[in-house]
Amino acid sequence: MVDLTYYDAWYIIAPDLHRSFGILVLLLLALRLAWRLNTIHPEGIGKKWEQYVAIVVHRLFYILILTIIISGYLITTADGQAISVFGWFDVPATVYGFENQEDVAGEVHEVLTYILITLVVLHSLAALKHHFINHDATLRRMLRSK
Ligand code: HEM
Ligand code: HEM
Repeated sequence: MVDLTYYDAWYIIAPDLHRSFGILVLLLLALRLAWRLNTIHPEGIGKKWEQYVAIVVHRLFYILILTIIISGYLITTADGQAISVFGWFDVPATVYGFENQEDVAGEVHEVLTYILITLVVLHSLAALKHHFINHDATLRRMLRSK
């Protein structure tokens, strides 16, 4: 998306889809948090410090995803423009007109996304390490309770 030029067919469509899917992620995040806060979840596995790091990283995932969506919203709505979600409905601009709003929100959006991607890679490697090296139930119990 960031390499597209004015003459590419995707120049308009890709950012539109990106914003629409981003808003969908917000709805999924709300459902997930409602589920997470109202259901029981399994005890951590591994050494105390590993469990601590896992909790910090999992919480960071939720915080980063939410902050990325808010900053994305602030880039698009910086000039007062609403966001059309797949043409189904509009999310209106609420906070706009701040000096450099688009640039600051854009910088936050980009940096936080690369931090999220880095943590997701480490998180996935950690899950695979638990499965193939430690041979514990961390990955398996996502599908079954035992
Ligand atoms: C989990 C959700 C999202 C992720 C992971 C994400 C990720 C990204 C990434 C990696 C870029 C490219 C950054 C760059 O190199 O400049 C980008 C750009 C952008 N995103 Fe998102 N985004 C998300 C949600 C949203 C939402 C909800 C909106 C608006 C409602 C949005 C609006 C934008 C805009 C306008 C740009 C272009 C920024 C620029 O040209 O500086 N994003 N996004
Ligand atoms: C190959 C990809 C992935 C694998 C194998 C994987 C595996 C796992 C496993 C096994 C757990 C449970 C850990 C436990 O029992 O304590 C977990 C939790 C979690 N994962 Fe992933 N994950 C992957 C990708 C992702 C991605 C892309 C995200 C989000 C950006 C993510 C976010 C989370 C969060 C937030 C939790 C904590 C859930 C909670 O307690 O609320 N994961 N993951």
